[in-house]
Amino acid sequence: SALVVAVDGPSGSGKSSVSREVARRLGLAYLDTGAMYRAATWWCVHTGVPLADQDAVAQAVRDLPLDQGVDPDAPHVVVGGTDVGEAIRTTEISAAVSAVATNLAVRDELRRRQRVAIAVEAAASSFSEGRGIVAEGRDITTVVAPDADVRILLTASEEARLARRARDVHGSDDDAAVEATRDQVLRRDADDSTVVQFHVAADGVVTVDSSDLDFEQTVAAVLQVVAE
Ligand code: CDP
Repeated sequence: SALVVAVDGPSGSGKSSVSREVARRLGLAYLDTGAMYRAATWWCVHTGVPLADQDAVAQAVRDLPLDQGVDPDAPHVVVGGTDVGEAIRTTEISAAVSAVATNLAVRDELRRRQRVAIAVEAAASSFSEGRGIVAEGRDITTVVAPDADVRILLTASEEARLARRARDVHGSDDDAAVEATRDQVLRRDADDSTVVQFHVAADGVVTVDSSDLDFEQTVAAVLQVVAE
């Protein structure tokens, strides 16, 4: 039957790249829920919806024409016919996303869509044995899929998370690069924490600490939890 794996974690924990690789190795679908909040933010900015207007943002997201792929080898995020795969990763969108993600009506809508995406994969797997999905974000283990077969909180020390994010964004983890990402990363996690709890594992959620693990070791640690 369907295998549903839920992975949560803070920024720079490696949850996106690790979850995608785990999905690939296990032949599962992959759902990046952060990409949905980013796509929603891009849509609001692109169509001129003021992010401070909670009702207008909520309405825009209810109508969000999002098409997101769940193939870990061919991720695509398309909004209203525009491929936004890169546009949703800019510093402008990263800086704005928490304002949208802390809107509770937005969360209701995107969580509903996430549950549908997970249910579709689970149903598909009853026709072809041995499928399922890895869904990754901030509140998947706790709110979106609390009944997932496997629930993991991927954590890392603040130092490790900032170094990773600095390498992703600036191609270096020297002091200047780390300082340049520090405020952004910590402020976004602090803002997100006002509506979702992802720093401490909830009951029944297994913590994987990647502070001292490289990418391959982290993938192996997650696969180990899935196999248990
Ligand atoms: O870049 P990073 O890995 O930190 O984040 P992401 O997974 O791309 O998510 C971007 C933003 O979307 C987060 O900072 C949250 O504001 C929001 N998000 C959320 O609120 N709930 C989720 N399940 C996933 C993301």
